[in-house]
Amino acid sequence: MTSLSRRDLLAGGMGLSISAGLAACSTPNTPSVTPSSLLGPPTGAAPSPGQRVVEQSLTARPLTLDLGGRQVATWAYGDRVPGPVLRATAGDFLRVTLQNELPAPTTIHWHGIRLRNEADGVPGMTQDPVEPGGRFVYEFTAPDPGTYFFHPHVGVQLDRGLYAPLVIDDPDEPGAYDAEWVVVLDDWIDGTGATPDEVLEQLIADGGEDSGGMGGMGHGSMGGMGMGDPPWGDAGDVIYPHFLVNGRPPTDPEVLSARPGQRVRLRIINSASDTIFTVALGGHRMTITHSDGFPVEPVDVEAVYIGMGERYDATVTLRDGVFPLVACPVGKTSGGQAMALVRTGAGSPPAPTVTPSELDGPVLIGSQLQPAEAARLPQRSTDTSEDLVLQGSMRPYRWGINGAVYGENEPLTVERGQRLRLNAVNMSMMTHPLHIHGHTFALPSGLRKDTVLMAPMQSFAIDLDADNTGDWMIHCHNVYHAEAGMMIALEYTT
Ligand code: C2O
Ligand code: CU
Repeated sequence: MTSLSRRDLLAGGMGLSISAGLAACSTPNTPSVTPSSLLGPPTGAAPSPGQRVVEQSLTARPLTLDLGGRQVATWAYGDRVPGPVLRATAGDFLRVTLQNELPAPTTIHWHGIRLRNEADGVPGMTQDPVEPGGRFVYEFTAPDPGTYFFHPHVGVQLDRGLYAPLVIDDPDEPGAYDAEWVVVLDDWIDGTGATPDEVLEQLIADGGEDSGGMGGMGHGSMGGMGMGDPPWGDAGDVIYPHFLVNGRPPTDPEVLSARPGQRVRLRIINSASDTIFTVALGGHRMTITHSDGFPVEPVDVEAVYIGMGERYDATVTLRDGVFPLVACPVGKTSGGQAMALVRTGAGSPPAPTVTPSELDGPVLIGSQLQPAEAARLPQRSTDTSEDLVLQGSMRPYRWGINGAVYGENEPLTVERGQRLRLNAVNMSMMTHPLHIHGHTFALPSGLRKDTVLMAPMQSFAIDLDADNTGDWMIHCHNVYHAEAGMMIALEYTT
């Protein structure tokens, strides 16, 4: 259901998802995308003349989801999990109307997109929350091609079924593949006995008395669960009963079909809240081509780690048969794994518990990829720097940045036009996916990311060009850590 052939793309079928109005559509696919590093992201509140407009309506509402025969109550965009793929071409203007039919306020955040601040979806920072029964229209230009997703930025709503892929096509992409599969990974607990809000309450209760201040911040204690393979240390706090690919458990997997010999582009999105996965396709090597939307020097791997909020694109030349596409939760000892099936020919499907041998060898750590030349920031020196220290502990359950929880910590500041260096260091014993809104940053290698896994005690000097005025969030993409305080604001002073 999330597969789309190259032919469909070329035929201009907008695919499964966009009940799109092509309102201001006139010129066929010739957006001239000026390198954004020179220009900054477009911040117009309305489409410019000739700019193609992609429209979509999304209703956030309660839904009963069937997990291989188990009915769970959750919240979703429309009638499925993940929500419908939203698809546009780089340079398009997106106009997405959110109708809130949830019993709680919500917003949508367009994860990884360098968009105008007003559309970023952070309540209390860029907009008021959308109240039950209310609606909000998100309008922005998507300047960069790549694989993205969207989700609420309210509480721990991300850990319900409120997430969906956002694919921005590249008008200059040669498209050396025959088909494309969007692969969305998730950890699932909602409706199985606890809601995500109750999970957070429990984590705080289990953390015990808060002695006040950031006394516990620093090394902290381990969670007692979620001990992952090296290098991740303590990799997660929450025990999940299910892990899903495209909303389905391994006992009722999605079947991705193609013909033997075809080249397929995988767009792998980790929309989990508390789970790093190791991803492998049994019987195949994957060529990793993009990280967080941006091209990398292609690397052939048997398996890759993907942290919460990260995306990797890979191409695979398919063999003949039936193969498990497995996402193995790092450091989780119950709940099994996530799995879809790739079918190109006859054969009986592997068991839901199958472990492809590709998972036995070395696993690529995405931050070690090298950027494609086109993805590098221009050479220049940094103008200013800020420290970004990730701290916290399980007991008490308290996570923060720069010595305090969000709201008590000092916002980071930058002036428009500056190159900002963030000296990011993880001073805790857990791994945290560090995510920055409205910008993509460069690691010391030049690799462009918007979300990067930071292992215990790991540090990165992260550079970004301050070309997108506004107030932005920087936070851990473990939604429970973020909600417990592991966020900080980045504010433009000019
Ligand atoms: Cu996907 Cu502020 O996050
Ligand atoms: Cu974290």
